[in-house]
Amino acid sequence: MLTPPERYQLVRRISGGGMGEVYLARWREGAIDKEVALKLLLPDLATAADPLERFMREARLAARMHHPNIVEVFDAGELHGRPFIAMQLVDGITLEQLLESIADPLPLPIVRLIATGLLEALDYAHTLSDERGELLRVVHRDVTPGNVLISRAGTVLLTDFGIAREGNVVRTAPGVLRGKPAFLSPEQLRQHPVDLRTDLFSAALCLYEAATLAHPFRRATPDETLAAIERDPAADPRVHRASLTEPMATALLRALEKDPRARFGSARAFRHAFIDGPVATSPELAALVSPHCRSVTQRSPAGAGTLSAPGRGRPNSGWLWWLAAALLSGGALALGLRWL
Ligand SMILES: Nc1ncnc2c1ncn2[C@@H]1O[C@H](COP(=O)(O)OP(=O)(O)OP(=O)(O)O)[C@@H](O)[C@H]1O
Ligand SMILES: [Mg+2]
Repeated sequence: MLTPPERYQLVRRISGGGMGEVYLARWREGAIDKEVALKLLLPDLATAADPLERFMREARLAARMHHPNIVEVFDAGELHGRPFIAMQLVDGITLEQLLESIADPLPLPIVRLIATGLLEALDYAHTLSDERGELLRVVHRDVTPGNVLISRAGTVLLTDFGIAREGNVVRTAPGVLRGKPAFLSPEQLRQHPVDLRTDLFSAALCLYEAATLAHPFRRATPDETLAAIERDPAADPRVHRASLTEPMATALLRALEKDPRARFGSARAFRHAFIDGPVATSPELAALVSPHCRSVTQRSPAGAGTLSAPGRGRPNSGWLWWLAAALLSGGALALGLRWL
């Protein structure tokens, strides 16, 4: 069996973020010769033994998931001293990119198709059992529009399962905030234990934004946004889009309840309540997204085929230091925090 450096040839960088980089890579091994998306975590994260071990455990769990609406994970390990995940390469865009590039809210049948894909992916993960039939209690913890991919063919795919972990630290010190916590649930912000209902809250925020292009808790500052997630009731989405149906609006508001017990008990129940009318087809979604897609091979020429050496290419080493400290102290491998 080949080692990871023998197995993967980095072709070009697709994207570089605060927590890692995504590369288009070629996987050559025996009869296999295919393009994959290779996510490399930053070198800082590779140095702490516990996060790496935790990362591998989560990657193994992610690799067990096989669902048409979940990005397939093929492999994970260490490449040039950095943890990596090799996954299905999706030629398309993220829901975040789509929402940023449109002026009018998405047609309701398209919103229903995105909701169907996202909630079926979550329901599959939440009900996944091990070989003995024991529920694995998988919780995604980082359901954001950036982690919902839409392929050029019009398929909705959820990614980054298990990468975000409990203990996501949002407040580094009183009043100091890091990351982009706008899609975290109130219980995540309070660092309380979470279960599948935390994903329903985050999914509802994604769907609220997809349906209205508005975020019910976004305020002038990150601090105020966090306070709003914890305290303010979400405004009825029909304030932003009067044509939204009553069942869709009611389902969103229920999934956005502060108390997890007041939300739906499953992604399936959420989907049944939310999907109240015609659902678009994949070709219809494909027609809508394709004008906004650039080929994955053309996205980010910077850093093509090369790895950032430790200490280079970090967007903001100050917050990465904070992050490394948070990982070491809280044992968290939290990739889901971004600035608002
Ligand atoms: N499997 C994939 N195939 C193709 N492109 C991908 C894939 N996964 C991620 N990308 C691209 O890489 C970008 C960065 O992904 P990454 O997961 O690092 O960041 P994010 O989703 O914005 O944030 P986070 O996952 O930390 O919340 C995505 O926005 C997407 O454009
Ligand atoms: Mg992601």
